Amino acid sequence: MSKLNIAIFGSSGAIGSALCKKYTEQDNVEKVFCFSRKKTEIHNKKAFCFSLNYLDEEDLLTTSNKINFSFDIILISIGALLNPEKSIKDLTVEKFNNMISANTLPTLLIGKYFLPKLNKNRISKFASLSARVGSISDNFLGGWYSYRASKSALNMIIKNFAIEINRTNKNSIIFGLHPGTVTSKLSDPFKNNNKNYFSPETSANYLFNVIETKTNNDNGKIFDWNNQEILP
Ligand SMILES: NC(=O)c1ccc[n+]([C@@H]2O[C@H](COP(=O)([O-])OP(=O)(O)OC[C@H]3O[C@@H](n4cnc5c(N)ncnc54)[C@H](OP(=O)(O)O)[C@@H]3O)[C@@H](O)[C@H]2O)c1
Repeated sequence: MSKLNIAIFGSSGAIGSALCKKYTEQDNVEKVFCFSRKKTEIHNKKAFCFSLNYLDEEDLLTTSNKINFSFDIILISIGALLNPEKSIKDLTVEKFNNMISANTLPTLLIGKYFLPKLNKNRISKFASLSARVGSISDNFLGGWYSYRASKSALNMIIKNFAIEINRTNKNSIIFGLHPGTVTSKLSDPFKNNNKNYFSPETSANYLFNVIETKTNNDNGKIFDWNNQEILP
């Protein structure tokens, strides 16, 4: 079997860069394409780095048109958590729009231009990093209106992709991932000393194992780092 081609979007982030490294270390991987808003250098002969504006459809179209092969795995590790609301009194239109732009729209637009690049001839996977707080049934604390809503919307998009893409690519498996609580630029401002944090490398190792196990039965679902399904 020929080796795998991987694409990782958000490759400068804590978890994104750890995932890039993890995949370059695999013997069965040929190339890892690393996309970031600002081009990053990854010193590994399997890694190919590109800059990309996830919200610019011309940039997405031009970039995807340059790729004349299929990806076996596409991972999106993009997101932000800025000034989360403790109460509805803290909500502003700007905050809400920022969270949708950082957590929801990138996957929607990357899907538009890169889902057609998923391998149709063997099992191929497309996963985006969501968050447990995007689950409506798991919401016991409230708050964080914009971030929660942006991740719930992301989960809906993942489900929609799973339904639509499966009609034309029976080999595709599309799912969401919760990475655990991980030390990163995103989580640092909310650091709770009573909580255990994964390093990005530990989280990437867990996520790698979860991604490996996914089958057609998992299409459209969300899984945590421990491979437990997170219900909507
Ligand atoms: N850390 C946690 O505890 C935790 C928990 C649950 C879920 N998550 C999810 O895991 C994913 C990765 O987060 P991380 O912890 O690795 O955070 P991170 O180190 O801050 O990385 C997030 C990456 O997202 C991209 N990004 C940030 N703001 C953006 C914006 N406004 N518009 C477009 N892209 C933006 C950037 O990638 P580029 O600069 O490469 O483009 C950034 O490096 C996110 O989806 C996050 O919601 C994290």
